[in-house]
Amino acid sequence: MPRLQGKTALITGAASGIGAAIARAFACEGAFTIIADIDVERGRAVADETAGLFVRLDVAQEADWDAIAERFPALDVLVNNAGITGLEGAAPAQDPENTRLADWRAVHAVNLDGTFLGCRYAIRAMRARKSGSIINISSRSGLVGIPMAAAYASSKAAIRNHTKSVALYCAGQGLNIRCNSIHPAAVMTPMWEPMLGSGPDRAAREAAMVADTPLRRFGRPEEVAALAVLLASDDAAYMTGAELTIDGGLLAGSAATPGK
Ligand SMILES: NC(=O)c1ccc[n+]([C@@H]2O[C@H](COP(=O)([O-])OP(=O)(O)OC[C@H]3O[C@@H](n4cnc5c(N)ncnc54)[C@H](O)[C@@H]3O)[C@@H](O)[C@H]2O)c1
Repeated sequence: MPRLQGKTALITGAASGIGAAIARAFACEGAFTIIADIDVERGRAVADETAGLFVRLDVAQEADWDAIAERFPALDVLVNNAGITGLEGAAPAQDPENTRLADWRAVHAVNLDGTFLGCRYAIRAMRARKSGSIINISSRSGLVGIPMAAAYASSKAAIRNHTKSVALYCAGQGLNIRCNSIHPAAVMTPMWEPMLGSGPDRAAREAAMVADTPLRRFGRPEEVAALAVLLASDDAAYMTGAELTIDGGLLAGSAATPGK
């Protein structure tokens, strides 16, 4: 029996990378997928592939979420996955000393405001059935400081905390609406392209990025998707407010380990 049979799931940022992998995995488990993204072309392609529906949604825009609420007043699963690092564009710096306020805000608008608005919509859309699962894609960067991507790390840390507020709020309301966060470390998706580049040293850069990861490799989007399937399914019925790391062992130890 597919684990998500009969469930409707909306996944933000599902046109690419981890979101697309989650959409594919959810469809395989019997869910009806709503692919929400600002990338219309690639979003439509994922919707076709998963026999789902594409909707254009900018997660930072309240009006876009209002339109979603009108069109989809009921929902079983929401994955707040859309996110940006701030390193994609022409932002000159993302460190705590030099980041421009506008760049700081732009990262928080997508990652944090987007997750807040998504959670708010989902609670309302799940209230009638009194049940549902909200999955927030945070990051390993939400658990440690990242000096050269300070806004990203701040936004992901706030997502971790908001997940717990949502979980407790829903439980306190007598709702079986669970809310959990996933914290991946480096997962090979297009998000890494600006950092890896396409030059002859790409392989060396890739190796350097995971040199401190105990499993010595990038994660795969499908591996994160498997965790999302678990959290979306009734197998995780007793899990709420939890944070799940998926990081090749990175956070299990410390660079300062004696004898290293
Ligand atoms: N790849 C990693 O190593 C990694 C690690 C930890 C956490 N994450 C998180 O996983 C999530 C997915 O990342 P990915 O690696 O698949 O990235 P990606 O760049 O491949 O995909 C991100 C998707 O989000 C969409 N998006 C961007 N801004 C949006 C907006 N305002 N509204 C709607 N959609 C928007 C993009 O169009 C794209 O389809 C992000 O939240 C990211 O922070 C990724």
